[in-house]
Amino acid sequence: MEMGRFCWCIIILVWVQACMIPGFSGCLEEEENALFLLKASINYPINESFSPSSKLINKQRTTTDCCNWTGVQCSNITGRVTHITLYGLIDSWSIGSEYWYLNTSLLLPFQELKSLYLDGYIHNFRVSKEGFERLSALSKLEELNLDYNDFNESILPSLGKIASLKKLSLRWNKISGRVPINKGFTMSKLEELNLYGNDFTDMRFISKIPSLKKLYLGEAKLNEGINIQELGKLKNLQELYLDDSSIDKSFLNKVGVMISLNVLSMRTCGLNGSLPNQGWCELKNLQELDLGDNDFEGRLPSCLANMTTLQVLNLAFNNFNGSISHSAIPSLQSLEHASKMDWQHDQLG
Ligand SMILES: *[C@@H]1O[C@H](CO)[C@@H](O)[C@H](O)[C@H]1NC(C)=O
Ligand SMILES: *[C@@H]1O[C@H](CO)[C@@H](O)[C@H](O)[C@H]1NC(C)=O
Ligand SMILES: *[C@@H]1O[C@H](CO)[C@@H](O)[C@H](O)[C@H]1NC(C)=O
Ligand SMILES: *[C@@H]1O[C@H](CO)[C@@H](O)[C@H](O)[C@H]1NC(C)=O
Ligand SMILES: *[C@@H]1O[C@H](CO)[C@@H](O)[C@H](O)[C@H]1NC(C)=O
Ligand SMILES: *[C@@H]1O[C@H](CO)[C@@H](O)[C@H](O)[C@H]1NC(C)=O
Ligand SMILES: *[C@@H]1O[C@H](CO)[C@@H](O)[C@H](O)[C@H]1NC(C)=O
Ligand SMILES: *[C@@H]1O[C@H](CO)[C@@H](O)[C@H](O)[C@H]1NC(C)=O
Repeated sequence: MEMGRFCWCIIILVWVQACMIPGFSGCLEEEENALFLLKASINYPINESFSPSSKLINKQRTTTDCCNWTGVQCSNITGRVTHITLYGLIDSWSIGSEYWYLNTSLLLPFQELKSLYLDGYIHNFRVSKEGFERLSALSKLEELNLDYNDFNESILPSLGKIASLKKLSLRWNKISGRVPINKGFTMSKLEELNLYGNDFTDMRFISKIPSLKKLYLGEAKLNEGINIQELGKLKNLQELYLDDSSIDKSFLNKVGVMISLNVLSMRTCGLNGSLPNQGWCELKNLQELDLGDNDFEGRLPSCLANMTTLQVLNLAFNNFNGSISHSAIPSLQSLEHASKMDWQHDQLG
């Protein structure tokens, strides 16, 4: 018994000591103050958990503890803030006609910030004059999420100055017109751009980001908008998602020029008729193809047999007919998964 108590004392002592080691005890005071300023700047009701932990408030606070605020994460090595998200913390239902002007200078103390999520139905969220270009001073900022806001294309030039960005998400904003590109545009590290839900068609802008690997353009009227020549300039593009868009079928006759593609997803794009026998089977690196939930009909074209790297094929919810054994699928040696539900006249064997 005595021994057990003794061990407990040691464990508690070690634990208390560990908490005293600077760097492991919470964020910098300067960063905590910056969070208080940020919080105070938001002129809408904000969740109480975006504040110091209440347990600690009652005790005597010896260290800053902003790493424990909901929505804040710190590096477990330097103790500095690396991640801030306001998602779900602002009571967007109470938002009236007043704007929240984010003063981006308030974010500058977070010198090790890696990701910033300002998403979530904050429709009256604006950025004050200094603009997002200020964030270019945060050299570690790799990920920025502004989903579900009300920004239009005029936001992109200033975002384009944050040279460290690798991942930018702007789903469900109002980005549809031509993007004015100016001199300071330096998105040379951006690998993932998500513009789902924007009706965005300025492919000329996208072609200015040669580092892109993953692009989401879904839920848009892309009928006349997909300029395949511009998209074809993206020599590193591996994944292209166009789901839920209206697309002209002639796109399939040309998409073969994007030879770096691994994944092509065109689910629910209102495509009909039979699949062409050329123009798209030239995608020699394609591993995943999703053509589900369109109105394709007829037999699978023989050129499909040339897509030897294909591993996943989704053709569900179309009206293909004919026998699988006579289609090109059996010769696809890499194929691991093919979905063909609703294949009305399927005769396996
Ligand atoms: C505040 O945030 C916490 C943690 O994310 C959540 O559990 C709680 O439901 C939120 N409260 C309100 C009123 O939204
Ligand atoms: C933060 O919270 C965790 C668990 O909720 C706790 O173990 C830790 O001591 C807290 N740290 C600070 C600095 O408040
Ligand atoms: C520190 O964080 C990283 C990633 O967040 C994690 O993989 C690692 O296990 C953590 N290390 C410690 C000592 O908690
Ligand atoms: C933005 O914040 C900075 C730093 O707190 C401050 O100096 C500046 O006056 C603020 N700008 C505006 C327009 O409020
Ligand atoms: C885009 O947003 C800016 C800033 O809110 C606004 O001044 C401008 O009129 C908008 N442009 C269009 C085409 O809606
Ligand atoms: C495909 O859809 C278009 C537009 O909805 C229609 O005009 C055309 O007749 C359809 N073609 C076939 C083969 O069903
Ligand atoms: C398969 O589709 C083609 C073209 O739509 C049609 O001509 C043919 O009759 C269909 N075959 C069957 C078995 O439904
Ligand atoms: C498959 O590729 C070869 C070589 O690129 C080409 O000659 C042939 O026509 C293609 N087959 C089909 C059915 O497209």
